[in-house]
Amino acid sequence: MRQEVTFAQALEGTLVLVNDAHPLQAWPGPEELSPALPDTPRVLLRRPAAAMLSALMDSLSAAGRIVPVSGWRAHAEQEALYADSVRDNGLAFTQTYVALPGCSEHESGLAIDVGEARDEIDFLRPAFPDTGVCAAFRAAAPRYGFILRYPDGARHITHIGSEPWHFRYVGVPHAAYITRRGCTLEEYIEELRAYTPERPLRLHADGRDWRIFRVALSQSGAAFEAPGGCLWQTSADNCGGLIVTLWGAP
Ligand code: DAL
Ligand code: ZN
Repeated sequence: MRQEVTFAQALEGTLVLVNDAHPLQAWPGPEELSPALPDTPRVLLRRPAAAMLSALMDSLSAAGRIVPVSGWRAHAEQEALYADSVRDNGLAFTQTYVALPGCSEHESGLAIDVGEARDEIDFLRPAFPDTGVCAAFRAAAPRYGFILRYPDGARHITHIGSEPWHFRYVGVPHAAYITRRGCTLEEYIEELRAYTPERPLRLHADGRDWRIFRVALSQSGAAFEAPGGCLWQTSADNCGGLIVTLWGAP
């Protein structure tokens, strides 16, 4: 069955690549945001990301041991954060740990910084060790659609230093695939360029099947075929394409 997505609809989605070369193009409205966890009214995420973060935290009984430190940031907040950090920490530190305003995943509402619950929590670099409940969170995150976005050793690709506290919601099954491959979102989006409706990436996990492919996006939007009875989701890649994810499509 032919499906059509308008250009405006196509700009949305959980796979948008946001980095210094790919500024954000679609910002969440207030109605698209909700508290990252039921008891964190000041830390917001896009609704699907918030629901999955809550499920992940519940699965680990992590409430009170892991705290959401920073979620969605308004553009002005990222601007202030960047300027304050340059003033207080210098440019080299800031370029390592704070994205340029307009180029931060936090503005998309799809990124969450988490920290180990402590008396003092560093807002820019919360402690999130590779032990205990934090390690368990990191291991379980992909099953709930989150990836560790800035892994150690990938700065030449992401242009951001290692951030063990910053998780990005990309959705299932993309998170599981990216984590298994040990690649970055930049590399995954690049890899997806090769997958077409005729030759999709086929994934199978937990008894479920997915087909993933990319179609070109023009000013009039994009169109693709989805088999009847098949759930589908689309997301801009923010690199001129639309990624289509078909659920239940062997
Ligand atoms: N700390 C990440 C890179 C940000 O500011 O978006
Ligand atoms: Zn972050």
